[in-house]
Amino acid sequence: MRIDASLGDITELAVDVVVNAANSSLLGGGGVDGAIHAAAGPGLLEACRELRATRYPDGLPVGHAVATDAFDLPARWVVHTVGPNWRAGERDPAMLASCFLSSLEVAVDLGARTIAFPAVSAGAYGWDLDEVARIATAAVRTWKVGTAQDRRPDGTPNGISHAQFVLHDERALRAFQEAL
Ligand code: AR6
Repeated sequence: MRIDASLGDITELAVDVVVNAANSSLLGGGGVDGAIHAAAGPGLLEACRELRATRYPDGLPVGHAVATDAFDLPARWVVHTVGPNWRAGERDPAMLASCFLSSLEVAVDLGARTIAFPAVSAGAYGWDLDEVARIATAAVRTWKVGTAQDRRPDGTPNGISHAQFVLHDERALRAFQEAL
């Protein structure tokens, strides 16, 4: 699995999975969540409402991930994850790592081969960018070299060939490039 970092707008990528830094309501917000909903169109909000009404009446827990279609995005699916909110005292690195690991697991279940992550929790949720870069890159690398997580239940290797971090500004790009 190739892992790299680049500068860009994650809503424009023609990858299989775009990961969204959502909140537990799944009903949209600002930052990358707002950009993804705006670009995907109203179908995405409808799909998220459906998830709330069925699987997640109390909201998606921090560190978990769930997929929807990507609607008008060039991507095939959006995997929504909820990062820990530093400003609300959610400061466990394992919870942030779990966002990346859970998203990869959901992506593999979908049959995805390519996935793009934003810097989850590094915006409105207030985590230090270098810390996010270290945790995110370590999580994806660990997953890559892991044995159990790296394989489907039938023992075949997972299908992800390219995982990329797509950063919105130069400062974030540098943080991720250094961490990689
Ligand atoms: N492409 C890639 N990265 C982006 C884009 C984009 N189009 N837009 C912003 N970023 P944030 P969080 C970067 O705040 O910290 C929302 O309101 C941004 O520069 O989007 O996990 C949700 O609904 C930053 O580095 O996510 C939640 O309530 C990174 O994405 C809350 O914010 C993450 O910033 C989640 O906060």
